Amino acid sequence: MTKIKKIFIETYGCQMNFSDSEIVASVMAGEGYESTPDINEADLILVNTCSIRENAEQRVRRRLQNLRSLKRKRPGIRIGLLGCMAERLKEKLLEEEDTLDVIVGPDAYRDLPRLLKQAETGQKAINTILSSEETYEDIIPVRYDSNGVSGYISIMRGCGNFCSYCVVPFVRGRERSRDVNSILKEATDMYEQGYREVTLLGQNVNSFRWNDEVSGTINFAELLEKVARIDSKLRVRFATSHPKDLSDELLHVIASYRNICKSIHLPVQSGSTAILGKMNRGYSRETYMNRIEAIRRIIPGCAISTDIITGFCDETEEDHLQTLSLMNWAEFDFAFMFKYSERPDTLAADHYKDNVPEQIKERRLNEIIALQHRLSEKSNKKDINSVFEVLIEGYSKRSKEHFAGRNTGNKMVIFPMTNNKPGEYIHVKICSSTSATLIGEAF
Ligand code: 5AD
Ligand code: SF4
Repeated sequence: MTKIKKIFIETYGCQMNFSDSEIVASVMAGEGYESTPDINEADLILVNTCSIRENAEQRVRRRLQNLRSLKRKRPGIRIGLLGCMAERLKEKLLEEEDTLDVIVGPDAYRDLPRLLKQAETGQKAINTILSSEETYEDIIPVRYDSNGVSGYISIMRGCGNFCSYCVVPFVRGRERSRDVNSILKEATDMYEQGYREVTLLGQNVNSFRWNDEVSGTINFAELLEKVARIDSKLRVRFATSHPKDLSDELLHVIASYRNICKSIHLPVQSGSTAILGKMNRGYSRETYMNRIEAIRRIIPGCAISTDIITGFCDETEEDHLQTLSLMNWAEFDFAFMFKYSERPDTLAADHYKDNVPEQIKERRLNEIIALQHRLSEKSNKKDINSVFEVLIEGYSKRSKEHFAGRNTGNKMVIFPMTNNKPGEYIHVKICSSTSATLIGEAF
């Protein structure tokens, strides 16, 4: 009998990367590899990487240093680097990181078995060819790290927006949508396996577009509606939306289905029209505010979260104050906040100077974080005494006597365990809150 080989995948970066790792696990399962959560028993270690900011890459570089000593102890293991860093740095990585045996870009995962065979002979192997078509639509992800209740479905790949700061179009290629039928099949299969929440993933889901002779043309609003109709007990979420493409049609679909979660992640990046222009975002402060107003009008109570970059090229104190005032106005429930990090070969790197001094970036970031902390706290305080339908995802990280789940607005809710099981819905009355969590009791 041949020994089952073990694969350990470590993932950095966005949800898309986590979803890709499940595709990679599936490709490798076809080669007889079984996923393991224990790196020490792995024959193959794959690191799926992110290039979005310089510190994301530095983290991976440090991790490779640790893996170097692991390989010294167990020279038989093979180590591969996948994802955005592989795509950005290509052969250079093989020269710089001698622990690596294989380098594979985001569109080349089907080639992994061949590349590994080449690596087995002691030769380094690399494939970083980008595709204009690859969507991995026929590959059933192996959800090796799943709670069995909520999972991701990748509905499109790549990005064609070319925000001037962003490396994604260069490392993930052109935007392409996945076949509607394969998405619906995957969601239906997940529901039948007991999943109760799917998150539809894409760099810019609003520009999803599929066309075939049978289905005709399907946009994102129509896709979302089709997924919501699979079963009313299947919750649907999606990320990420681009403000320039957030249509009222989509908002009306979200409002009409109870199982489409009332939570929209709408990255604003900056509150200053001048900076948004430089960022090539395709909207002004006013257009963004108009979209928030549309959400509040069409979906009252909808949670809104955002991404903010501080210290972009030429950002003045006045621009920064505009970001703070927009945050105050919008009252975001949650935000991811970053210092601008120049990425080589992006439009901003080629055309603008990264000229906001580090201490100023740091101070502005701290102000933004402090404000968001207050806004999140306020948003959570408002929920005290409300009753929410919560989908139980599992146990609380801190206590085995508590369940953890989310409400429709994507807030984490912790409450004392009941006789229910993960995957069931339960009503919870909120008694207290922190800036990150709601705490309650079954109602
Ligand atoms: N520097 C800092 N943050 C960035 N993001 C994207 N590119 C950069 C960069 N060069 C942020 C944006 C995006 C999120 C995924 O990462 O806010 O929405
Ligand atoms: Fe990072 Fe962007 Fe790649 Fe996701 S797509 S892993 S955020 S660089």
